[in-house]
Amino acid sequence: KLNLHGRDFIEFTDYTKEEIEYLLDLAIDIKKKQKNGEVYQPLKGKTIGLIFEKSSTRTRVSFEVGMFQLGGHALFLSKNDIQFGRGETISDTAQVLSRYLDGIMIRTFAHSNVTDLAKYADVPVINGLSDDAHPCQVLADFQTVLEHKGKLKGLKMAYVGDGNNMAHSLMLGAAKFGVHVSVASPKGYEPSASIVDQAKSIAKETGAEVVVTNSAQEAVQNADIIYTDVWASMGFEEEQKEREAAFADYQVNEELVKGAKPDFIFLHCLPAHRGEEVSEGVIDGPNSAIFDQAENRLHAQKALMAALMG
Ligand code: CP
Ligand code: NVA
Repeated sequence: KLNLHGRDFIEFTDYTKEEIEYLLDLAIDIKKKQKNGEVYQPLKGKTIGLIFEKSSTRTRVSFEVGMFQLGGHALFLSKNDIQFGRGETISDTAQVLSRYLDGIMIRTFAHSNVTDLAKYADVPVINGLSDDAHPCQVLADFQTVLEHKGKLKGLKMAYVGDGNNMAHSLMLGAAKFGVHVSVASPKGYEPSASIVDQAKSIAKETGAEVVVTNSAQEAVQNADIIYTDVWASMGFEEEQKEREAAFADYQVNEELVKGAKPDFIFLHCLPAHRGEEVSEGVIDGPNSAIFDQAENRLHAQKALMAALMG
C-alpha cells in the first residue's frame, strides 16, 4: 500500500504510474463500498476548503458530497466572498487557511495560483481546474474507461478540439496509463508544446504513443475513446464567435465517429454545447458514457481526499 498522505495533487506529472494506479484502484474500491451501502469514513473531523474563482456544478457538488460521505466537512469558498477575491495574496491565504483546514481545493485561472497555493500551504492542495490542467476530471475519466473497457493499456484515445486544460491533463494521464492518445486541434489551438513534450517523454516509459495533428479524421481512426470539450473554456468567452469559425470542422458527429472502433465510448467532461463541439446524436447516443463519467468525479475525488488527507 502506497502512502500519499500530505501530498498535493496538481498534475499527473507529480505522480508515478504506480501512485496513479493506486488512486484509481482506491476509487474503484470506494465506489464499490458506496454501492454496497458500506459506511467508509476515514476523514472524520477533517475539513477541506474549496476555493472557486470560476463556476462549477460537478466539481463543487462532488467534492462537497464526497467529503460528507467520508465523514468530514467541506467549505465552499467563493472568490466573491473571500478576501483573496479582493486582492489578499495567495501566500497569506495559504498560510491562514492551513491553520484551519486539513486540505484545500482550488479552481482558478492562472495555473501559478495553484502552484503558489501549494508552495505556501502546509496542507495538501488539489487542483480543481486551472487554465492549464484539470487532473481530477482525468482521474474520473480513466476510471470510466477502465469500467467500460476492462483495461487501459494499449487503448487509443482521440481528443478532438481545443488544446486546453482538458487536452493537457488527458495527454499526461493517457501517457501514464499507457493509453495511446491523438489530439486533433485547429491550427493555433494546439496543446502547449511543453505539455506535449512531457507527455511524449512519459509515454516512452509506458509504451504509449502521443500524436498531435490538425486532422480530426486522422485522430479518431480506430479510436476506442473519443473525447471532446467546449471550444471556448471559462475565461475565453469573448472569443466564442471566432472560435466557432476556427473549430467548425472539428465537431464530433455521426460522420466523424465512423472512423472509430464500432464500440468506441464517447466522453465529455461537461458542461457541453450540443450542436457545437458535439452533435446531439453522439453525446446522447448509445456510445456515450458522459453520466458514468460525471458520477465518477465523486468516487475518484473521494479516493484522492482519503489518500492525501487520511
Ligand atoms: N467537468 C467539470 O469540472 O464540471 P464543472 O465545471 O461543473 O465542475
Ligand atoms: N475546458 C473547460 C473545462 C470545464 C470543466 C473549461 O476550462 O472551461
